[in-house]
Amino acid sequence: MSAAARPDRGWRSYDAVADAYVRVSAACHRQLACDLVAAVAPPFGARVLDLGAGSGIAAAAALDATGAGGHVVALDPSAVLVAHARAHHVDAVAGAAPGLPFRDRAFDVAVASLVIGHFDAYQPALADLVRVLRPGGRLGLTTWGRLDDAPPIDDADERAAHATWDAVVGEYIDLDAVDEAAAEALPWEEWFGDPARIRLALAEVGLRVVDMFGRAYRYPLGHAEWLQRVATGARARYVRATLGAARFAAVEAEVLATLDARAIPDPVRCADEAIVTIAAAPTGRVMTR
Ligand SMILES: C[S@@+](CC[C@H](N)C(=O)[O-])C[C@H]1O[C@@H](n2cnc3c(N)ncnc32)[C@H](O)[C@@H]1O
Repeated sequence: MSAAARPDRGWRSYDAVADAYVRVSAACHRQLACDLVAAVAPPFGARVLDLGAGSGIAAAAALDATGAGGHVVALDPSAVLVAHARAHHVDAVAGAAPGLPFRDRAFDVAVASLVIGHFDAYQPALADLVRVLRPGGRLGLTTWGRLDDAPPIDDADERAAHATWDAVVGEYIDLDAVDEAAAEALPWEEWFGDPARIRLALAEVGLRVVDMFGRAYRYPLGHAEWLQRVATGARARYVRATLGAARFAAVEAEVLATLDARAIPDPVRCADEAIVTIAAAPTGRVMTR
């Protein structure tokens, strides 16, 4: 393990890993995005915002749901992912919450799939989302996590594969520093694994949860694909930025060889658990007795 200079914050962007993100990670998240859009059910002709759209998988599903009269906007801080999102024939813009470049009440529905864990501060970001939702509009969120009554899932393959990645990468970089950096990039990822905290955060910005359910997703990924998916995550992005692309590629080759040497199942049977939350904005109507 060697001490390495800390890179600037550029590694937090998905720009450098956008192609792998689109090829592997977005493909893994597509069913979740489709389940989210089905649950939030944008009406035909609705104006929909896909916040933190990545490559626009939820935006594409929303476009199908809203039909020709709909207007779907995908927004993401990564300019490279925004370009990918545009390929789904939706409007795609670079930006972030808070600071959304839209007028008040511009959207009937907003979705944010696997995004709220990334906000620097979640309250101003959620408040800005509420600002761009019309009264009575709906917000659909997904977060990694599980509801209390979810049956256990078998993630033994993935844990073994991640342990291998850590063992190899930990020879080159201090893994505590990697975890610390990843926690800065995803300050609320673990926090919002708890459904009670999702409800509370939404209530704080005036949103009422109308539906919440858990879903498990399983997909086999060959070793190389699994490694590409890992490479798009915050920990690996930090390692790549710290070691440099060439050294990182050499370390990845060593991880692949070690996965084989340790007889980690190929494909790795991946298992993800997500919470889907649907909330409603206040109608703005004053109730009188
Ligand atoms: C895990 S990816 C999810 C992408 C996509 N929604 C999907 O399901 O594949 C998280 C996305 O959130 C974006 N993001 C991070 N911070 C954000 C912010 N403050 N506002 C909007 N998007 C943000 C990232 O650029 C990234 O594309």
